[in-house]
Amino acid sequence: MSSLREIAESRSISVGTCVNYSTWKDDGDYRNLISEEFNMLTPENCLKWSFIHPEKEEFDFEKADELVEFARENEMGVTGHTLVWHMQNPEWLGEENFESEEVERIMKNHIMEVVSHYSGEVEAWDVVNEAVNDEAELRESIWLKAMGEEYIEKAFREASKHCDAKLFYNDYGLIYDTEKREKVHQLLSDLLDKGVPIDGIGLQSHFIGVHPTSEEISNTIEKFQDLGLEVRMTELDVAYEKGKAPEKLEEKQTEYYRKIFQAYLENGVKHLCLWGLRDSDSWINTFQDYDEKYSDRPLLFGENGDRKKSYEEVKDSIKELN
Ligand code: XIL
Repeated sequence: MSSLREIAESRSISVGTCVNYSTWKDDGDYRNLISEEFNMLTPENCLKWSFIHPEKEEFDFEKADELVEFARENEMGVTGHTLVWHMQNPEWLGEENFESEEVERIMKNHIMEVVSHYSGEVEAWDVVNEAVNDEAELRESIWLKAMGEEYIEKAFREASKHCDAKLFYNDYGLIYDTEKREKVHQLLSDLLDKGVPIDGIGLQSHFIGVHPTSEEISNTIEKFQDLGLEVRMTELDVAYEKGKAPEKLEEKQTEYYRKIFQAYLENGVKHLCLWGLRDSDSWINTFQDYDEKYSDRPLLFGENGDRKKSYEEVKDSIKELN
């Protein structure tokens, strides 16, 4: 029986999962399943500031290097996540009350160091992550405070100086929150008009308690493709509210997984990434507010690495491509 990876490769599709460094390090089954079933990976946390830039003058590339090496050995692509975000930043960044110019210098220096370290290895970077909030406004962050909206442009321009990787804006909620989608669309459209080097958009697909229709997925993809952007599916998981979930939860989830893949694939999306390997690896189980509220089986593999029905459906939906 062909693996998900084999089917994907036969159709020139990249299918990935995020990889948690500690689990990867400790668990051989996890490693084997990842290299068997996926041809792309995204380090889940270890490229984020708090891990890779723990002190002002100190970068720690070790863990991410190991994952990148693993990807190389197994001929997998790597997506770099993420260069500029409001979360998982190191304490030192907030502690010293840096002047605006210093924050800008720190951001650019970070981008330069990290992006050039992985030049040629990381195929695509999530340069800016989640810059727009749930009120469809630019999100408060150390970056916005120091540089205003221009931090976004500055980040992309800096990244493009140091690598040939594709550069992405990545965000959640764009498929089902129309106001937020409009805001991000306008933002990217203005940046592109200014000649800012943005290659694509990552549609985070955390379908946790909210399950958009195929049509909503298609419309969103088309809207961004019309700007000339490459669209990728990032961070997919599917969870239902506990208690509210019908008895036939697994069946429902399986069907939904198929719909999602079909919608993305039909619209020419070639890179599709899940946010976790086995149900037991999902961030939903440990993330505050999510852990209590949502079902704990959001992914394609069960906790023992068994292939769920959703896994078969995803494979079939890729097989249908000619
Ligand atoms: C999550 C990780 O999965 C967790 O391990 C971590 O504790 C918090 O961040 N959007 C993103 C990802 O862009 O980086 C987040 O990942 C999930 C939401």
